[in-house]
Amino acid sequence: MPSENPRTRYAVVGAGHRAGMYVNALIGDHAEDGEIVAWVEPNPVRAAVHEEKVAAAVGGSRPVFHPDDLEKALDVERVDRVVVTSVDNTHADMVSRSLRAGVDVVVEKPIAATAAEARQIADAVAETGRDLTMTFNYRYAPRNSALREVIASGEIGRVLSVHFDWALDTVHGADYFRRWHREKTNNGGLLVHKSSHHFDLVNWWIDAVPQRVFASGGRRFYGDDAGHATGYEPTAGERALNEQGVDPWRIDVANDPYLDRLYGADAQEHDGYRRDRSVFDPGITTEDTLGLVVEYAGGPVLTYSLTASAPWEGYRVVVNGTRGRAELEVVERGSVVFGADGKATVDPSFTATFGEDTVRPEGERLVVQRHWERAEERPIVEVGPGGHGGGDTLLLAEVFRGRTEADPLGRAAGFVDGLRASGVGYAGNRSLETGDPVRLADLGLGVDL
Ligand SMILES: NC(=O)c1ccc[n+]([C@@H]2O[C@H](COP(=O)([O-])OP(=O)(O)OC[C@H]3O[C@@H](n4cnc5c(N)ncnc54)[C@H](O)[C@@H]3O)[C@@H](O)[C@H]2O)c1
Repeated sequence: MPSENPRTRYAVVGAGHRAGMYVNALIGDHAEDGEIVAWVEPNPVRAAVHEEKVAAAVGGSRPVFHPDDLEKALDVERVDRVVVTSVDNTHADMVSRSLRAGVDVVVEKPIAATAAEARQIADAVAETGRDLTMTFNYRYAPRNSALREVIASGEIGRVLSVHFDWALDTVHGADYFRRWHREKTNNGGLLVHKSSHHFDLVNWWIDAVPQRVFASGGRRFYGDDAGHATGYEPTAGERALNEQGVDPWRIDVANDPYLDRLYGADAQEHDGYRRDRSVFDPGITTEDTLGLVVEYAGGPVLTYSLTASAPWEGYRVVVNGTRGRAELEVVERGSVVFGADGKATVDPSFTATFGEDTVRPEGERLVVQRHWERAEERPIVEVGPGGHGGGDTLLLAEVFRGRTEADPLGRAAGFVDGLRASGVGYAGNRSLETGDPVRLADLGLGVDL
């Protein structure tokens, strides 16, 4: 938790896109709660983008340290707490070293890319007893909290099963295949990188512990071979243009001043990190089409599907209980439409999209039906602006101020929640490899889940 100092001293580890949310909070709504005193980031150009913003807001200057010098940064700058928003497969190293250096940690999901890396963190937490906060922002989205409330109230009875269908569209879904996420070694694939959010939701919604996972799926859409099979891969030297003359697979980094600064030519010069690679390149290892069966302690079963190539974006959840059924449907983007400038919002859960779809309007609907009764639609009370349905704003308040009020829905996630969520992904990955169901208890996470 934040120290007794008037303002907690923060180092931001990994100054990329996601870091922006924490940086904005610490120079905005949470400027009284904490201050950034150092950057730990291998790319000086990306660090400079954030540093300039902070300097403009609060003055002063903050040094940039290479990740190899993490301990030095924490020591010299007297850091109380780090915010880890680096590439997923660096979390274990950055988190466990910070904990051992006597510093508390806030870490973005997923906790780590592999079970072995998660174990490194578990060992460091056990050894140091320090505080580790997982930022599972989806719990704070009002629609997800509303479903939790319905289940916790007992009105649909004891949960028997959950069916969860998550659709990433061909803009946002494709984005995972343009950059580091396309290599499974960087993030554990979408089962860990993306679905751990979803597994955490289910674990929390039904308040149960996942035990055994069977997974099936693979890369069926992106990559050169899959692209060839679907007919979407452009011929060598050409670009795939739609009738608007837009390449629907491409992100134009140079066309967005912020992205251009973070990932454009200047930044690339330092590390070769390309944000805009072709989704039909050879060598992509991350799966885009996945199906899972997850068994929970006490009996509930989850069937889960993730596609990264849908024509609309959003999710559907069905929860069957002994007294009835709850259904949540969320449309984050009804269809992929490009603006007159040929651009489309990358992540529709984060930034507004273009236009309104009449058949599939953006929105959310929670319906509850008890046995022998008519279905009822339940209100979802918005909490205000901010990414992920206003959830990010609530999450930031809890991260930076600690819990200031009762948490009847148990939204604050701890380190074991992070392991339970990613654990389903690790077990799923092992199941993909072996073709067999895998027990979370056999992953060697070093913690009794
Ligand atoms: N909760 C959410 O909704 C959400 C959304 C987006 C990203 N994220 C998470 O945030 C993290 C960052 O994602 P992003 O989209 O900002 O990626 P990004 O590529 O924009 O930024 C990652 C940064 O980490 C830096 N980096 C690489 N190795 C490092 C190391 N060893 N130490 C410190 N920094 C290092 C890179 O140079 C880069 O600047 C990921 O873990 C991702 O899963 C969470």
